[in-house]
Order: sequence, then C-alpha cells, then structure tokens
Amino acid sequence: MTRTVIRGGLVVTASDEIHADVLIEDGRIAALAASGTSAAEAWTGDRVIDATGKYVIPGGVDAHTHMELPFGGTFASDTFETGTRAAAWGGTTTIVDFAVQSVGASLREGLDTWHAKAEGNCAIDYAFHMIISDVNESTLKEMPKLIEHGISSFKLFMAYPGVFYSDDGQILRAMQVAADTGGLIMMHAENGIAIDVLVEQALARGETDPRHHGEVRKVLLEAEATHRAIQLARVAGSPLYVVHVSAEEAVAELAAARDKGLPVFGETCPQYLFLSTDNLAEPDFEGAKYVCSTPLRPKEHQAALWRGLRTDDLQVVSTDHCPFCFSGQKELGRGDFSKIPNGLPGVENRMDLLHQAVVDGHITRRRWIEIACATPARMFGLYPKKGTIAPGADADVVIYDPHATQTMSAETHHMNVDYSAYEGKTVTGRVETVLSRGEIVIEQREYKGRAGHGAFTPRSTCQYLN
Ligand code: URP
Ligand code: ZN
Ligand code: ZN
Repeated sequence: MTRTVIRGGLVVTASDEIHADVLIEDGRIAALAASGTSAAEAWTGDRVIDATGKYVIPGGVDAHTHMELPFGGTFASDTFETGTRAAAWGGTTTIVDFAVQSVGASLREGLDTWHAKAEGNCAIDYAFHMIISDVNESTLKEMPKLIEHGISSFKLFMAYPGVFYSDDGQILRAMQVAADTGGLIMMHAENGIAIDVLVEQALARGETDPRHHGEVRKVLLEAEATHRAIQLARVAGSPLYVVHVSAEEAVAELAAARDKGLPVFGETCPQYLFLSTDNLAEPDFEGAKYVCSTPLRPKEHQAALWRGLRTDDLQVVSTDHCPFCFSGQKELGRGDFSKIPNGLPGVENRMDLLHQAVVDGHITRRRWIEIACATPARMFGLYPKKGTIAPGADADVVIYDPHATQTMSAETHHMNVDYSAYEGKTVTGRVETVLSRGEIVIEQREYKGRAGHGAFTPRSTCQYLN
C-alpha cells in the first residue's frame, strides 16, 4: 500500500475551507485531519508533501474538450497525449472529450474511434460525451446502450448545417429518448440556418476578415436558439445543458427557465469571460486566433456571465479546448472568415484564469472549485470520485500556490499550438504539484507523468436529476 501525506495546506472544496492534512492511500483520499492535531501528526507516508502556504484543491474537471477533432478540413492540434499533459500542467485531472459520430456511421463506431485515439495516451483520466451528427431511428436506439457504457450525455448542434446540424424534429426525438433513459442533451445553441444566410451575404459584400465571424453570429441568434432548445426540452420533458454560453441574452433565457424550476443548465468558458470582439478585430488576420463558436462578444456581455456564475444561472466553466495552429490551420480562412477552423486553446489555462477571477473579486474561492471541479463532476456523473477532496474520492489533488505570478505565453505553455489566446496576460496563482489517483503527474513544476496513466472513466447519469 502506498501512502502520501499532504501537510499544512488550506484544503478548499466547493463546500469548505479547512487547514487540514490529507492522507492518501492506494490512489484514494483516505482521511483528512486538522493540521497540527495528534491524529494528523501520527500519519506517516512513503511521500510527504509540504503544502504550507498553499491551497490543496481537487483536480479540475474540464467537461468540454476536443482533442484531435476533425473540423473545417483539418484536425484540432492537440492529441490526447499532448492535450492531457497540458491539462495536468494547468491543474486539470479529468477531461470529458467529445466522441463524434460521422454521418452514416453508428454512435458505437464513433465511440470506438475516440477510445482508440485516447487509450494508452492520456496523462490524466478521461471520459466521453457523444456528438450525434445524424439523429435517426438507429442512432436513437443506440443512445440507451451508450448510457450503459458510461456515455450519458449527447451533444446536438443547432449550428453548422451540413456538418453536425440537427433540425428541431431530430432534436425533439433525441430529447424524448434522453427523457426516458436519463441521458443529458448538451446543446450548441445558435441558429445555424440563419447564420449561414448572413455569412453568404457578408462574403458577397467583401466582408472576409475574422471580425465578421463575430458579426454574423448574432447575439439574437444565440438567444433565439437557446430559447427554442429550452422549449423543445420542456415539450420532451428532458433536462438540457447549454454549452459555451457567450451572450447576456442567452443567460437571460437560462435564468428565466431556471426561475420556472426547469432542469436547464448552462456552461460558459474562459474565452467569453476574459476575451472579446476586440480580439477578433486584431489586425493582420491575427483575429483568426480568436475565431470560435459561439463567438466572442463585446466586452459588455462579460458582466452578465460573471453575474450568472455568481447567481448559479450558469453552473460550469469548461474550456471548449479546440486548438488550431495559426500557421497552416487558422490561415485556411485567409480571405474567407467562414473557412477559419473554429476553436480556441485553453485546457491549460482554465484553473489559473478562474483563480484570477477570485483575485479580481468576481467569484469566491469555493465557487472557483464548484464551477471548475465539483459541479462538472456532478453534472456528468463523476462525483464524488472526481471533483472533491473527501474520504473515498480519487486522489486527484492539486497543490496550488495562490501567491506565485505567471505570464501566459505560447513560449512556455504545453499545449500543442503555436499561439496563446492569453499571450502576455499576467495572473496570480500557479499550479505547483498535481496528483492523479495518488500518482505524481507534476512535481514542483516538473512533469513526472506518463502517457497511459490516464484511464477511461465511465460516468453515471447527471447527478442533479436524482
Ligand atoms: O468553436 C468551437 N466551439 N469549436 C469546437 C466545436 C464546438 O462547437 O464546440
Ligand atoms: Zn459547440
Ligand atoms: Zn466544443
């Protein structure tokens, strides 16, 4: 039996902050005891970590990543190996990535493809959601089988006609299956049919720069789709989780639904909290680095997102990590913004940016852990194995230095992408040491992990519904 003792840190979970020592046995949290008490001091370990002056927090759970996603004629540039290593550097110890069903293939085939990409390559634990690109009789029948295999959430797209798009009838059918079987529908809520008209018109006017990506993907078309998704979920009697919420008007739709007591949940991402259309408008095609969907919004929307996170109208912050190099990938859209692959890198930055939000006074320390660790774990059926520090939980633990400063940069990050969306941004707080199921992955800012340590983690259904 291997034993690790973490001494003297401030243990922060979604519910508590206590000066406690943490005992880890065989990859799990065995006990917590107040630091300095005889109970804690009696503990011996094969490894003793001094966390004096540091936070001891649960490893982050990033519930929205896209390693190796095929998109726009290319692939997201992080593999499961590089992306999970970078995640660990940033204090995330579990990712939930999106397996993709190709049109004409089964869900199972898509899932098998993603298992093959991930297996043996991950530094940290991983799970999958399923993107359904083709809702039909056969894929609807497969949904309950996937839930049995630990894939309990399904992403549908109201955007990207001809690629991932589902019409309202298909969405309603999938929601009906989810309602009957305990599945959770995750929605990309943008009116893609209307957006495609505006894209065509913008290009015809010669508006080809990246900033037009933000202009055609209108706030109202995010709000309208969010409203429609909520009404469809009500008709089906299913829960709904809206991904990458970026606009104040979309938050208002979620808040109105939640005020009615509906099981409607919302996620936002650091890019919407820290970046804006100003970035999309950067000259010399640099704005392409910030092309993602939903798009970055004018700065004024950020206050509503922070408010939503404080009032629990938004419950989760995930990254939607979907990196494409500027050189050779984002550049595919020079002269036509609609050909810029959509997505931003961020899996390494989320925990630090949200800690900066604590420093800036947007959220409390416990809310930081709630939106980045505990709630995503509960939302996607991983709690309390993941997302907390409590006896029996996996020993996914981060020793976090709240006083260190760092400057984010592509020169120093570990994501396999040639730019940082936060280049030059200085934040307070830095990951020092990371354990995954009791094994050291990062030790005093040195990588000690290994590809293949990370295991597929089947999930139960959403824990806010039962
Ligand atoms: O721009 C984004 N978000 N790319 C990834 C695919 C998606 O819609 O989540
Ligand atoms: Zn999406
Ligand atoms: Zn995504």
